[in-house]
Amino acid sequence: MAIEITINDTTHTLDVEPDMPLLWAIRDVAGLTGTKFGCGKALCGACTVHVDGQPVRSCSYPVSAAAGRNVTTIEGLSADGDHPVQVAWRALNVPQCGYCQSGQIMTAAALLERNPAPTRAEIDAAMSGNICRCGTYTRIRAAIERAAGGDS
Ligand code: FES
Ligand code: FES
Repeated sequence: MAIEITINDTTHTLDVEPDMPLLWAIRDVAGLTGTKFGCGKALCGACTVHVDGQPVRSCSYPVSAAAGRNVTTIEGLSADGDHPVQVAWRALNVPQCGYCQSGQIMTAAALLERNPAPTRAEIDAAMSGNICRCGTYTRIRAAIERAAGGDS
């Protein structure tokens, strides 16, 4: 079945089954591997992308639900890695192994889009579904505060 999806401002016509997870389409069909597979059960957040600006777990989101919509992956968050969240991430050396980090960044960017000045509690609530096995949570929170214009 041909499904048309816009990924990072490029329209793709994908020959896929409608129930294929969006993550599969992004990685294996469109060839964008910045989005990671963690649990495959919507439990870890590693696969987070934006669909029409909203964060979704692409491992558990059928590709057909994204038809005609705008998908943004980590590769499309900014042209040169200069999104405020990415800048803050680099400034504070947030990643350890890095595996969870594209999902963390996409979740954080969506948070700041809907709430440009979140409280610490709001940050913790928004990020609570993104698991980091390396335990970088303190740096993640500090980087979000920095990106929001705080003084971390
Ligand atoms: S891989 Fe999608 S939430 Fe874990
Ligand atoms: S940086 Fe290793 S899992 Fe998060």
